[in-house]
Amino acid sequence: MSPGDHRDDVGRLLAWYDRHGRDLPWRTGGAGDPYRVWLAEIMLQQTTVPVVIPYYRRFLERWPTLDELAAADRDEILAMWAGLGYYARAARLHDCARRIVRDFKGRFPGTVAELKDLPGIGVYTAGAIAAIAFGQPAAAVDGNVERVMARYLAVDEPAGRLRGSIAGIVSDMVPSHRPGDFAQALMDLGSMVCTPRAPRCGACPLNGTCRARLRGLVDSLPRRSPRKRRPRRQAMAFWLESTDGRVMLTRREGQSLLADMLEIPSTPWRDDAWTLAEALTHAPAPGKWSLLAGSVAHTFTHITVTFRIACHQGVVPAAGDHWHAREAFPALALPAMTWKIIDHVDAARRATGANERR
Ligand code: ADE
Repeated sequence: MSPGDHRDDVGRLLAWYDRHGRDLPWRTGGAGDPYRVWLAEIMLQQTTVPVVIPYYRRFLERWPTLDELAAADRDEILAMWAGLGYYARAARLHDCARRIVRDFKGRFPGTVAELKDLPGIGVYTAGAIAAIAFGQPAAAVDGNVERVMARYLAVDEPAGRLRGSIAGIVSDMVPSHRPGDFAQALMDLGSMVCTPRAPRCGACPLNGTCRARLRGLVDSLPRRSPRKRRPRRQAMAFWLESTDGRVMLTRREGQSLLADMLEIPSTPWRDDAWTLAEALTHAPAPGKWSLLAGSVAHTFTHITVTFRIACHQGVVPAAGDHWHAREAFPALALPAMTWKIIDHVDAARRATGANERR
């Protein structure tokens, strides 16, 4: 099929977008400002539109320009990001802002090739920014667009090969006069009409030519890959309190999703459960540790980690470590995994307190 074959459908899609496209804050008031487009796209990576909107507004209010964000305090950015998940993205957001100030005099580069070289910007996000903010004829293919196109073209490929099969076709379809609207129209179609389950084909502007619909394949495309069981890991978390009642936190290094985040210290994650004695070789301080009843489990994208929790009180804080009062935790950027551990300790304390009052 040649690009011309899709021209009428691109026109129908854009007309549908003009009538039904979502009214989102990054599409109105300063729309086309690369800083705003970039901020929205980074936040939207792996997070849904309704969750992103209040964060997007707060960030823009606090840091209205790229220069201000670049000059911001990293910990304040992480704290403002708390709840959006995957904090490494917030760190890369900050790194990216600084890089643009340093290497591009604070002006966003406008080509996919330059954008892709910046921290936190992959092929999809580079395409989205180039198309939406710079009017470049770039494609932006994420999971939603993949699903729409797999159905529209009836591509029966497993998930791993789907993007490769359709990326070229989407690129050929991008209209030179409205590339950003085309990208966002496909996103909206994917989230409002061509949904994973029970798509609303009656409302779809492409329903006359959608090959999956014509062949009765809408419910079987895109082809689902067999679910793999998530591996499970085990860890011991260490709740260590100082003589003045503060709790020790630690900052994770490296490139993982939790990089730069403060968290409750723990053993490495491994396949087998830890005994307390084994775990104590990793404890942040020697002493008489006691094990709390129960455990907490947290699921990341690829693994589920189960934490048991050991507690110890009354140490004198060493200089250089991070110690915070329990009441100060809400102001810190703590990952969801850490909050589950904190909640478990809080609940154990309340239970002990209740028993003592009896
Ligand atoms: N998801 C990723 N980018 C988006 C955008 N610009 N509009 C709506 N949803 C999106």
